[in-house]
Amino acid sequence: MCGIVGYVGENSASPILIDGLKKLEYRGYDSAGIAVSENGKTDVVKTKGRIKNLEEKLEEVGGLSGTVGIGHTRWATHGAPTDVNAHPHKGGNGRITLVHNGIIENYIELKTMLQKGGYVFVSETDTEVLAHLFDYYYKGDLLDAMVNVMKTVRGSYAVAILADDKPGTIIAARKDSPLIVGLGDGENFLASDIPAVLKYTRDCYLLEDNQIAVLTKDNVTLYDTDKNVVKKDVYHVTWDVEAAEKCGYEHFMQKEIAEQPKAIHDTLSPRIKDGRVSIPELTLTDEEIKNIGKIHIVACGSAWHVGMTAKYIFEDMARIPCETDLASEFRYRDPIIKKGDICIVISQSGETADTLAALREAKSKGAKVISIVNVVASTIARESDDVIYTMAGPEIAVATTKAFSAQLAVVYLLALRFSKAVGLLPEEREKELTKELMCLPSQIEDLLNLTDELKTLAHKYVGSDDVFFIGRGLDYAISLEGSLKLKEISYIHSEAYAAGELKHGTISLIEEGTPVFAVATQDKLFEKTLGNIKEVKARGASVIALVTDKHASVSEFADEVIRVPVTDGNFLPSLNVIPLQIFAYYMAVLRGCDVDKPRNLAKSVTVE
Ligand code: AGP
Repeated sequence: MCGIVGYVGENSASPILIDGLKKLEYRGYDSAGIAVSENGKTDVVKTKGRIKNLEEKLEEVGGLSGTVGIGHTRWATHGAPTDVNAHPHKGGNGRITLVHNGIIENYIELKTMLQKGGYVFVSETDTEVLAHLFDYYYKGDLLDAMVNVMKTVRGSYAVAILADDKPGTIIAARKDSPLIVGLGDGENFLASDIPAVLKYTRDCYLLEDNQIAVLTKDNVTLYDTDKNVVKKDVYHVTWDVEAAEKCGYEHFMQKEIAEQPKAIHDTLSPRIKDGRVSIPELTLTDEEIKNIGKIHIVACGSAWHVGMTAKYIFEDMARIPCETDLASEFRYRDPIIKKGDICIVISQSGETADTLAALREAKSKGAKVISIVNVVASTIARESDDVIYTMAGPEIAVATTKAFSAQLAVVYLLALRFSKAVGLLPEEREKELTKELMCLPSQIEDLLNLTDELKTLAHKYVGSDDVFFIGRGLDYAISLEGSLKLKEISYIHSEAYAAGELKHGTISLIEEGTPVFAVATQDKLFEKTLGNIKEVKARGASVIALVTDKHASVSEFADEVIRVPVTDGNFLPSLNVIPLQIFAYYMAVLRGCDVDKPRNLAKSVTVE
């Protein structure tokens, strides 16, 4: 997630900006920069890489002097991590300097309009559009220009802006991306997050959506988009820095579980217009999609579980044969890839060695490679023919949650796109399904309220040595993910089985009190999985049934029931995984495990 800092006061801005950016490093970034104003001029120093690279560059230019400035750490979403794409960005002839956190969804149409108006762009970013757009509206009144920009753009933003002809002033605004104002004595601060200002002040304004802040060293005024002054209570921070980095959550995993509605929204929203799916990053034509012989889906770990769901969903909606492989197997089995086959590679980090090797194997055999990746310009992204980015933001916890959910969202979009291309998705049905998709974030928000119930469940089973997960079809794919989440962070032995497989061996492991999570949300398979629930119950299992609101009657047979809302069967994985993540989280917390950094694991497995 990008980080923004700002300072206006009596001290040199540069060291304060750098210090603030360092406090935001935990948010994940791939480039950094600052801008400082003095004598009606604003100088910018920015670079790809880490803050230490920025400090080296500042030293090379002899530093920046001035007591007003803004700074930024960039997590790339549009355009690779490069010096040019780093923030701050200049608007107009350079009289405007801007930093931004968020995604401007209509940046392409705005860029075209501005280019027609004579604006020259130097970067690939959506942010540069904001800088020129502000300049376009700026006639000397900062507030007026800001309001016009906010009425014109669609998307999410936290922005901080300097205008050369307004020395000693910063104007800022937010919508969907966080921004706070730190209140000092003879100085004031801006930041994406509280840690960046705690060293200087504990008194803040927590800006709300569509609020604007104008800062000078002695004054902060807040406005709404009707230019009315907004009165706001001062928030006094009681957290310590460590807690603040996690926005008050105990672990990054807990924070990232809570960020899933936004991650899904940010991944879906730019790719659904007027109820129709549009994936501009996918260069396959309808004809090429119709002629796909097989889709090879390759990944590792949780990403492979997404691949498992993709197989079921693509075959159900587009009737295209799919084969899902573990990358570590695929790369060595001399896979049979025919002309017209495509390979879909899924990876949060975009650096997993086995997955990268599998990509290269598929390419060497002539497959077109489409990747679903979270880290912009990562190796897998760069080596793919097409890359569809998940907009989950940086994921810090080793156990993936929000990136997993964002990957599922891309799978649904691809399934709709393929289904449409092969003529199996009438427009009316497409609009119904995209409407269902856009309900997922709010349905997940509701499921996040199951926390207390799942914490109680964790207390009940925390002493277990073995926990089994069973399911059929898409429920089986999510059982695999639920089982992995549990074992990788709580170190409890767990296995997931296709429910129909129990009688072929595994059921011998079931004894009195053995916990069995039965994921039974697929309507057409419910009765079958209910049969498996009865099977394990008969051997003494303690069954936790995960069902939709349609099958609450399962409580006659299960010891515990967790319910998820009804949605299209193919989209249920996004809902089912939430309770399983939260259950695993509390099992790990109760066992005193290092939730964010489980033993023996790395966030990105860049070696074989
Ligand atoms: C999942 O919680 C684990 N962190 C792990 O299985 C992970 O999904 C796997 O290593 C693949 O990583 P990638 O998505 O970055 O390629």
